[in-house]
Amino acid sequence: MGLRIIVVLAVLMGVTGSPTTTVRPETTSVDTAAHPNSIPEMAEETGQNEVFSEEEAAEDVMATGELNPNHYPAQRAAKVVQHYLTTRYGSPYRLFGLHRVHSGNAEDVGDSGRKYQLEISVHEIISNTTQKCSAEVFFPHGQKQESPQVQASCEELLNISTKAQEEALYQQYKMNQTLLSAQNLPDSHGHIEPDMKLLWHLGIVASSFIMLKESSENTLYNMAQVANITQLETEKEQLKFNCHTLLHDMVSQEILHWKLLFAWSPAEGVKVLQMEQLPHCQHCEKPPNTN
Ligand SMILES: *[C@@H]1O[C@H](CO)[C@@H](O)[C@H](O)[C@H]1NC(C)=O
Ligand SMILES: *[C@@H]1O[C@H](CO)[C@@H](O)[C@H](O)[C@H]1NC(C)=O
Ligand SMILES: *[C@@H]1O[C@H](CO)[C@@H](O)[C@H](O)[C@H]1NC(C)=O
Ligand SMILES: *[C@@H]1O[C@H](CO)[C@@H](O)[C@H](O)[C@H]1NC(C)=O
Repeated sequence: MGLRIIVVLAVLMGVTGSPTTTVRPETTSVDTAAHPNSIPEMAEETGQNEVFSEEEAAEDVMATGELNPNHYPAQRAAKVVQHYLTTRYGSPYRLFGLHRVHSGNAEDVGDSGRKYQLEISVHEIISNTTQKCSAEVFFPHGQKQESPQVQASCEELLNISTKAQEEALYQQYKMNQTLLSAQNLPDSHGHIEPDMKLLWHLGIVASSFIMLKESSENTLYNMAQVANITQLETEKEQLKFNCHTLLHDMVSQEILHWKLLFAWSPAEGVKVLQMEQLPHCQHCEKPPNTN
């Protein structure tokens, strides 16, 4: 029983929570702190709505046919849709979360890969709108791991225009005499200073490019933390940022460290210019009190 660690599938900032308030620490039955791979920040990341056991992570790895919407295979594919939508349409004022998987189906496509057909509900966190979408996720099989290919139609989530807000924020960041920087978004208490929230959102959008690219049928990535983010000099009307981000793979329970260089402008959205995975950080992944 000691090994049976219950993990909470944290939906980006907590789908049940308010988009603009802090991520509240939850101390219920969630015992992520006991896991050797967890870091304190993870305990604050609360999803609440979906709970999996680690045993479940191992089962149904290559389930085919109709899937249990609450089990990992369907959830993993659906999570990829969230990351895809965030890379395409995300902004400081538009962030997506996976709300629910209604149904899912998986099939082999010859030897080339596997295709998942999903009916899901996606939540746009800032406007607090939820919409049902159909999506298709194809995981190519091959020597070299390739990114999943996604198709999704969730147009209604894009109806609310965020352009004016984005433009105002862009001007503010661009005009400010001081280049912005922040650490630990959120901090170990789950707190984020209100004036750093939008910078955090930018870090989440940029991180989604990694989570999309790195996803496979055997991963389930969530954002853990923007460890630090630093604004660089603006070039060609693009704001630029260096960012060190921590991603949590729910399946392996690993925390992955990535460094990112990205650009943002309202017209072009977020574009990742460089990404680099950093070696495992033994020190931060092994708190002394394991077991
Ligand atoms: C978001 O919308 C849901 C359903 O419409 C509502 O129950 C919930 O209270 C809203 N949350 C916030 C933070 O406004
Ligand atoms: C979103 O926009 C589409 C087309 O522009 C329209 O058909 C749909 O009713 C809109 N949905 C909402 C919720 O406003
Ligand atoms: C400019 O940057 C400083 C330092 O980060 C910050 O305190 C201030 O609020 C910013 N001003 C604007 C208008 O964003
Ligand atoms: C950013 O955070 C990482 C992880 O905590 C740390 O190793 C790195 O030194 C930090 N970088 C800066 C520039 O603060």
